[in-house]
Amino acid sequence: MKRLLVLGATGSIGTTCLDAIRNSLAPDVKIVGLTASHSPALPCLGKEFNASFQYISGYDRDALLRFIDMTRPDIILNAISGSAGLPATLAAAGCGISIALANKESVVMGGRFMLSEAERHNAAIIPVDSEHSAIYHLLKGRTASRLIITASGGPFRDRTDLRGVTIEEALMHPTWRMGRKITIDSATLANKGLEVIEASLLFSMPPECIDVTIHRQSIVHSMIETEEGAVYALMSPPDMTLPIITAIVGEGNGAGHLVGKLPFSSSFSLSFEKWDPVRFPLLSLAYEAARKGGGLRIAYTAADETAVNAFLSSRITFTDIAAVVERVMEDLPDYPEPSSFEEISEIAELAKRTAEALC
Ligand SMILES: NC(=O)c1ccc[n+]([C@@H]2O[C@H](COP(=O)([O-])OP(=O)(O)OC[C@H]3O[C@@H](n4cnc5c(N)ncnc54)[C@H](OP(=O)(O)O)[C@@H]3O)[C@@H](O)[C@H]2O)c1
Repeated sequence: MKRLLVLGATGSIGTTCLDAIRNSLAPDVKIVGLTASHSPALPCLGKEFNASFQYISGYDRDALLRFIDMTRPDIILNAISGSAGLPATLAAAGCGISIALANKESVVMGGRFMLSEAERHNAAIIPVDSEHSAIYHLLKGRTASRLIITASGGPFRDRTDLRGVTIEEALMHPTWRMGRKITIDSATLANKGLEVIEASLLFSMPPECIDVTIHRQSIVHSMIETEEGAVYALMSPPDMTLPIITAIVGEGNGAGHLVGKLPFSSSFSLSFEKWDPVRFPLLSLAYEAARKGGGLRIAYTAADETAVNAFLSSRITFTDIAAVVERVMEDLPDYPEPSSFEEISEIAELAKRTAEALC
């Protein structure tokens, strides 16, 4: 029996994970702990799964460490949204516990410091993001010279003028039902930007060897290309159950069939299209942050989080989000690659303050 602690249990990823356990898709997993920030649904979930539950901010390291000590998990699913996920990942890694990591901000902001902390404490980091989960599995026994990350393209893949986009329009994702922050990031392609940076760090791949392609069907989750030119893809219906549960139990460990079957007995098409850097400047900015590294990855993430909040509270327009992130990146002093959580926090705070002043 694997003991699982779910951080961010009331969100989209947390709910998909709990649904899978509820439906006996991972019979060897026992939920031992659940956290959220304030959702009133948490006590009911604790009761249903007979698990300890607590409201804990991702930033409250001491409370998290006490909860980890009390629940004694074998693996932690970090499904907290935004930058609050990084201190939680660092706390879990410091305990030497494997982490099924949905919170991409942990990798993008924590960078090499977070990854080396996890390695130092023997804490495995298993990606949950469907693109990185695909690459993680495809790389078993293979070496890639190029990664190809797929993107649905979001709700505006066919809209030419993005001025005047409303909050409701931006929250209407064509394929995935997700939390509000990641849904807006999917509409601006900042989410794809975060994923390019995440992939370059997780798989030690230079950003110029990572491509993004618009794939409307969200069936191919990502691809790897070998030196010889073979391209391997991982395909499944668009359902996060597969990457979440395989991150927790591993492949071939008795979880059974986790998602619907692709309809190969009838006809369906897969398409791949070029993304447009003019309409989606946040993806270009992410490549710049990935290339230059240092503080820019942190500034990109923190400024985007601030700007998305400002958009969701009607203080700025949709196209302002990219303008704010660009200005914050331009104004950021040069920082070397951070080597502590304090240095990361200092850069993030500066970027948030600068972004806030622009909103
Ligand atoms: N949703 C997806 O399909 C998907 C796919 C790939 C990757 N991801 C990544 O997974 C993470 C979670 O995404 P999501 O869509 O599940 O987000 P979400 O629906 O907004 O859920 C976020 C969860 O984190 C908790 N939380 C929020 N702020 C917190 C804080 N400051 N401290 C502690 N807990 C906090 C929330 O608790 P309350 O409910 O109490 O606020 C909720 O349980 C993000 O990093 C996202 O990029 C998501």
